[in-house]
Amino acid sequence: MRPIIITLDGYSSCGKSTLAKAMARELNYVFIDSGAMYRAITLYFLRHHIDPKDNSAVRQALTEINLDFDYNAEQGTSDMLLNDENVEALIRDMLVSEHVSEVAANEYVRAFGVAQQQKMGLKKGIVMDGRDIGTTVFPAAELKIFVTADPVVRVERRFKELLAKNPRITIEEVKDNLEMRDYIDSNREFSPLRQAADAKVLDNSQLTREEQLALALSWAQETIAQKA
Ligand code: CDP
Repeated sequence: MRPIIITLDGYSSCGKSTLAKAMARELNYVFIDSGAMYRAITLYFLRHHIDPKDNSAVRQALTEINLDFDYNAEQGTSDMLLNDENVEALIRDMLVSEHVSEVAANEYVRAFGVAQQQKMGLKKGIVMDGRDIGTTVFPAAELKIFVTADPVVRVERRFKELLAKNPRITIEEVKDNLEMRDYIDSNREFSPLRQAADAKVLDNSQLTREEQLALALSWAQETIAQKA
């Protein structure tokens, strides 16, 4: 069967990456976390004091950035490499989360991210998660899923995840960050977060990981049988 492209879009912390990773493992597809790419660019900008509103500095900085993923099929991990440095842990930091949406809204950053993501999809057989994957990056993807979850559930999930790494983090901080990112991501001029008209909606507020995986896989298998 010919491989397809599966896109997962949605708001912050609704479990897209967890689901995308599990789907890719089951289907033997490649998982691509597009958010990690914007996070790595943000880390570079923070380190080099690049103002995301200064387009000429942004364009210069983008020529100095090389992004790659270090896949480990056995461990099921896909670590982000920024100019060959493994930055997977660093990009999950609150400092990066505080700045990433502003960086990702820049027109040149978007063009840079989208072009690289489209190249990664040339061979198909991928599951990519993000905000604009089904609308801008792969508008002709065979299966598009829009993941949603109750905002209270999303804050609790992300708070638990971050608390394990940073005992000083507060739930208010996490809630404010999620709200701010969702607002900027939905209201930006270039490829805002939108549900594609042909996307299937998956609300996982009341679903276990196993239940949501089973549902998404049933859609994937149905689509592969029909379209591949
Ligand atoms: O924290 P969470 O896993 O929900 O977010 P992420 O997928 O790591 O994405 C971090 C940020 O990158 C988002 O809040 C967006 O500002 C940006 N992003 C984007 O603009 N377009 C994408 N395709 C993916 C992420």
